[in-house]
Amino acid sequence: MTASCNVVVLISGSGSNLQALIDSCGPDNPLRISAVISNRADAYGLKRAAAAGIPTQTLDHKLFADRESFDRALIESIDGFGAELVVLAGFMRILSSGFVRHYAGRLLNIHPSLLPKFKGLHTHQRALDAGESEHGCSVHFVTEELDGGPVVVQAVLPITSSDSAENLAQRVHTLEHRIYPLAVRWFAEGRLRLGRSAVELDGQPLPACGQQIRN
Ligand code: GAR
Repeated sequence: MTASCNVVVLISGSGSNLQALIDSCGPDNPLRISAVISNRADAYGLKRAAAAGIPTQTLDHKLFADRESFDRALIESIDGFGAELVVLAGFMRILSSGFVRHYAGRLLNIHPSLLPKFKGLHTHQRALDAGESEHGCSVHFVTEELDGGPVVVQAVLPITSSDSAENLAQRVHTLEHRIYPLAVRWFAEGRLRLGRSAVELDGQPLPACGQQIRN
């Protein structure tokens, strides 16, 4: 029996990735979601967490004077839940360097593009506008560069001539729900770590694009 790994998930919205993580929990998975924290009281993901019996908390960033004081309160809350890993699942806040440094090597994010392409917002439309033949999503360790940290795993799909930004978003979302639980499980099992020069899985360095899953 493997020791469990306490994970705190941060959300701002629907929380479908949170749901995928909740659904991946089970006796053979050391992942234990100890809390879900949202910066928005109306985030639907809070309902998903409550339905799964997971403690929830809302920390409204608008009630704080600046980014640093919000992030300090967030750290206090996350550490209060004993987090060994912090998982950003549609948490739409830029994090201060103090926050990122505090969780160095134990902070994961999912982003709807094949990083380093299309950091930031509107990734599906931008991939179409750029005439890309492939698109997808990436799980990465978070560093101080926005959407810029070392990639753990990417799911790649072909773009077809009939794709719109909307249906591309749906296809990518479905893949997100496969690769995020996978990456979080690797971490929880002690198989994944951020090494000095690369992400390591089972002690072996991964390529810059991480483990690629083609669809
Ligand atoms: C996901 O598509 C995730 O990749 C994106 O927010 C969505 C959250 O969906 N995150 C980012 O764009 C971060 N840069 P969800 O609330 O249904 O999980």
